[in-house]
Amino acid sequence: MEILDDFGRIEKIDKSGMLRVVEAFPKQCSDAVSLAKHIRLKEDYGGVTRLAVLGMGGSGIGADLLKTVVESQSELPVTAVKGYDLPRHVRSDTLVFAVSYSGDTEETLSAFTQALDRGARIIAITSGGSLHKQALEHGLAFVEVPAGYQPRAALGFLFLPMLMVLDRLGLIDPQKDAILETLTILQALSERYSWKQPSEDNLAKRVAGELLGKVPVIYGSDGLTAPAALRWKCQLNENSKVPAFWSVFPELNHNEIVGWELLKDFTQDFSLVLLRDREEHSRVARRMDITRELVSAHVGKVHELWCEGNYRLAKILSILYLGDFVSVYLALLNKVDPTPVERISLLKKRLAES
Ligand code: F6R
Repeated sequence: MEILDDFGRIEKIDKSGMLRVVEAFPKQCSDAVSLAKHIRLKEDYGGVTRLAVLGMGGSGIGADLLKTVVESQSELPVTAVKGYDLPRHVRSDTLVFAVSYSGDTEETLSAFTQALDRGARIIAITSGGSLHKQALEHGLAFVEVPAGYQPRAALGFLFLPMLMVLDRLGLIDPQKDAILETLTILQALSERYSWKQPSEDNLAKRVAGELLGKVPVIYGSDGLTAPAALRWKCQLNENSKVPAFWSVFPELNHNEIVGWELLKDFTQDFSLVLLRDREEHSRVARRMDITRELVSAHVGKVHELWCEGNYRLAKILSILYLGDFVSVYLALLNKVDPTPVERISLLKKRLAES
């Protein structure tokens, strides 16, 4: 664990400075909010009855976040499109956010082309590539995200502008107070989880230490912490380079809970992480408690981690942010550079060749 308190040693492993980027996430979020205020919205968005968000991986997680936040406060259904084809219900009355940090992700470009063909209202969010070029060609509104980030590290820029646009269009409740609370909490967490806070006073470092050598399984709750659980899993995969899995209450009580029955010796190497909130559904809270009692002897450890804040946005981003720190600290404990994702690059290269 001492490595996490020694910036000289951290820098030797974290060559591209992922920890600094994670620490600066609150600033990125406030920059994203300012950026979104200046988006030039092009057309009349009246008559929009649904939303769709196209995006993969680090550019796609914003879709899950948006769905959870928007569907709790508006009647607009939100569809996350994480593949080549658009569902049939995406039509001209759909506001589509096409999100790709690189602007060159083939699934997103394929779905984007279909959205153009269907006459959907489209807003592109990208730092460049083909998406940027096509947005200009077709005269679409777009958000130009600063270059130089790993897509997953640009979450503030990729997600918050969608929320801001919906606010500006009057399609959801005003977000000002929720955003203010979120930024305040994220700033406080950035200091609490910073490498400067010694391990004994730092929850992120402590959780990373306890996950070392384990397979993390992250459980969130439907309509609340589920997208944060997915983000935790993805960040543990991409930053820490470990297998990780996720699932959602209450659905997991109808299947996955049975899977913790056999292979007890093997499952001691798994750690459960429960993402909790004091306002989760009372039956979900009870389910989490019972699940913990039933499976704790079958896994290495069960961690319970709690959201902060009152607004749903703050709650989800606070627990998500803890996961981002944990994933970087776990990478450092694993002595791997959190930034490169060689397998993703290799796969994209091989696909481009064929
Ligand atoms: C890399 C990352 C990936 C990418 C994904 C899609 O940091 O998070 O999951 O986000 O491969 O690429 P983009 O974001 O360029 O559309």
